[in-house]
Amino acid sequence: MAIPQETIDEILRAADLAEVARAFQLELKPAGTGVWKACCPFHHEKTPSFHLDTSKQVYHCFGCGEGGSLVTFVKKMVNTDFVGAMQWLAQRYNITIPEDMHGGENSAEAARRRQFHEDGMRLLSESAAFFQEQLQTPVGAEARQYLSDRGIDEATIQKYGLGYAPDSWDALASWANAKGFSRALLVATGLCLQSEKNQERVYDRFRNRLMFPICNELGKVVAFSGRVFGVKPAEGGKYVNSPESDFFHKGRVLYGFHIARQVLSRTKWALVCEGQLDVIACHRAGLLQAMAAQGTAFTEEHARMLAKTQVPCVHLAFDGDPAGHKATLRTIKLLQAAGLQVLITTIPDQEDPDSIFRTGGPTALQNIMAQAEPAIPFVFRITCQSHPENTPEARSVIVSEMLDVIATLTDEMTAIGHCQWLAGQLHLPEDAIQNLLNQRRAAAEEAEQRARRFHAGPLPSPPLALPRITLEDNSTSALTETMLDLAIHFQPIAEHLAETPSVLTPLADCPAKQALTMLLAGTADGNWEETISSLIQSELCNDKAVSAVLVKSQFENLLGQPGEHPALQQALADCLNRLQSIQLQLASAQLGATLERQPDDFSTLAEAAKLARERQNLRRSRRWKAASD
Ligand code: UTP
Ligand code: MN
Repeated sequence: MAIPQETIDEILRAADLAEVARAFQLELKPAGTGVWKACCPFHHEKTPSFHLDTSKQVYHCFGCGEGGSLVTFVKKMVNTDFVGAMQWLAQRYNITIPEDMHGGENSAEAARRRQFHEDGMRLLSESAAFFQEQLQTPVGAEARQYLSDRGIDEATIQKYGLGYAPDSWDALASWANAKGFSRALLVATGLCLQSEKNQERVYDRFRNRLMFPICNELGKVVAFSGRVFGVKPAEGGKYVNSPESDFFHKGRVLYGFHIARQVLSRTKWALVCEGQLDVIACHRAGLLQAMAAQGTAFTEEHARMLAKTQVPCVHLAFDGDPAGHKATLRTIKLLQAAGLQVLITTIPDQEDPDSIFRTGGPTALQNIMAQAEPAIPFVFRITCQSHPENTPEARSVIVSEMLDVIATLTDEMTAIGHCQWLAGQLHLPEDAIQNLLNQRRAAAEEAEQRARRFHAGPLPSPPLALPRITLEDNSTSALTETMLDLAIHFQPIAEHLAETPSVLTPLADCPAKQALTMLLAGTADGNWEETISSLIQSELCNDKAVSAVLVKSQFENLLGQPGEHPALQQALADCLNRLQSIQLQLASAQLGATLERQPDDFSTLAEAAKLARERQNLRRSRRWKAASD
């Protein structure tokens, strides 16, 4: 679809960035004439560094460097392309986009991409219907029996669109082929895998599994999770899930969210549990506010999704085992940093919401969910259990771990209140704890400022969308492989990197990066070892670089050394330095491209001069960086 220029102009004249930002729940505070600031929607922060200028209709975050035009903003917030952003704006400002007559070559390409995406969404939704139908045929008898043994009735099967993937290599592929869906679509949606021997062939990813369709926030099917059932040994694990794709971003999808979001304004709290079956059990027990991050891999983006619903409070009901506790702790921090109040429901060991519902019915589940405990006392209880010795050393560790959690609170008075409470519990002076918290905050602030200075301040906020520049794949692949090597062979390094997974952003996408991303996510959940095993079982392992790293470490002579070993620390520091300089290179290239390719887009010379100054700053900071390396 090509939108006529006059319509684009009309939309841009009518729309206002500040108004649009408010529509996405940004709290704008005045910061000069025509300038507003707010907490950045693209990264987590407690003090606003996201600035928007209504006279130029541009924004920039001085914390994370995100910036752009009104259109960029809508594209990012709605997760769409240019046309999608225009349609969104047109709808908001009651402007009609005329039907498309003819388009240039670029728009033909864009139209092709959009068509592909639309077809993919249709394939996903029709595949869900296909799996549902299979469940009702004789081949689905065993799966139906399994569901009925688990007490899942027909109405529930219908409501959640549960289905069955036949025990075949090509049941879905042949069906889709007959319906005219291409192999490329089957692979792009993750429903099929490409055969290695014959590039022309694809085969079904989900075989002999109970199928749970996974919907995005609009209720559209974007992925599947397939559970084994019966006694057959499980090839590929208990659940096989759709891979990350253009259709499915695991970190941005919560199972059941599209249902739960509808009741949050009434319930005033959201419930996050581990699995699909837990969500279904909760919903059946009347707790419609339940959703799941599919396992314990809750992300910052999930926290933001919840914060955007404006629900004030989230209850976590993860499993009661050590892995569950670790995930709970991590998730508490993410949710608190997003400004949400957090309560914890303790599920007895070896149980989950689904099993409680099955044995005790709706009342048992409602009762257990009603007994949620505020996050801070929960963390205190768990931390004291792991450090039972009544010594100053143990108390120091407890204080430190507690402050990690308290420091993520966005409300200062609440944080002070928790410091007081903690002091009382440990019979320590209040101001000592408060001082430690202040020190920690000051250190964090300083680090943030250092990072800000390092990034040489303002990056361009061009009036038009920038061409996206990425470095050639081979210029970061060696670095990616070294980092993967370190993370696979040295757990402490993986743990260190897992705390700041965003360090990976400048690396060009490649299987080694995917492996590293997966490994760090697993490590963050306390599953370093397990993730390496799953990595080995995954297709990523078929990649040359990944398998090479798995098989042989460049740091072989350091294997078994502690993480603090100077040579290892040096290797890690080298990698991080390299990453920072790549980031600067990208920013600089992007600035250059703006100036060189689109010199006419800057309405005034002053603006161009400002950009040039910024570019110089960036170069200077690079030189400074290079000199300090
Ligand atoms: P659980 O192992 O607790 O499974 O994983 P469950 O949902 O309770 O299933 P039942 O009751 O044993 O049948 C919780 C969630 O973690 C994700 C799935 O989303 C699952 O629902 N998971 C688990 C995976 O993605 N892969 C796995 O191999 C296991
Ligand atoms: Mn279960």
